[in-house]
Amino acid sequence: MIAEEILPWYDKHARELPWRLSPRQKRANPNVLYADPYRVWLSEIMLQQTTVATVKGYYEKFLASWPTVNDLAKEDLDNVLSAWAGLGYYARARNLHKCAKVVADELGGVFPDTEEGLLKLPGVGPYTAAAIAAIAYDRPATVVDGNVERVIARYYALEDPLPGVKPQMKECAQQQTPYERAGDYAQAMMDLGATICTPRSPGCVICPIQTACLARKSGIAESLPKKAPK
Ligand code: ADE
Repeated sequence: MIAEEILPWYDKHARELPWRLSPRQKRANPNVLYADPYRVWLSEIMLQQTTVATVKGYYEKFLASWPTVNDLAKEDLDNVLSAWAGLGYYARARNLHKCAKVVADELGGVFPDTEEGLLKLPGVGPYTAAAIAAIAYDRPATVVDGNVERVIARYYALEDPLPGVKPQMKECAQQQTPYERAGDYAQAMMDLGATICTPRSPGCVICPIQTACLARKSGIAESLPKKAPK
């Protein structure tokens, strides 16, 4: 199973990102709150169409201005939209504010702790619901973004092209999702896809899951996942 190899790797190599408690930070601060759902939600919405490097600054600014979901809900929409300027896709910012109001006004300021409950929130789709359930609440939800799709396509040597192969990717990803440390596992898969299992020149020789990776075995890792011709 991927988790057995990737979690020890994540314990050593997790990226330090402002919205995450890395294993290193958890070891250093055993008392800090485990992944605040508000922070996880805010970061995941920002990361939907924007790079990690750009999101970092915006995330810090939002958190400094609105430390809790109740603070964000009370703010005027116009001020939230101004703070969002530069991130693009303003529908995301409108939904962000709408969602903050629902959580603050109807849910007592507490984010739902199941994928089903999270899916009902404005602007929260299947990816974001799974990410919050796993990262904030350690639920064994299967989180599949572009990075995870690439890792899975290679690990199983799925040679059918995107987007048709997506259901098969999801099925394989579900089979790997562990019951323990699901949040760390989800983030470990993202980090592996972002730093080692990269689209070009993947670092197979240093990959923690190289032994069982079928694409590596056949020397076809870089060619996967395939895309259907346009
Ligand atoms: N991209 C989207 N969500 C992420 C996360 N939680 N950590 C790193 N990269 C991400």
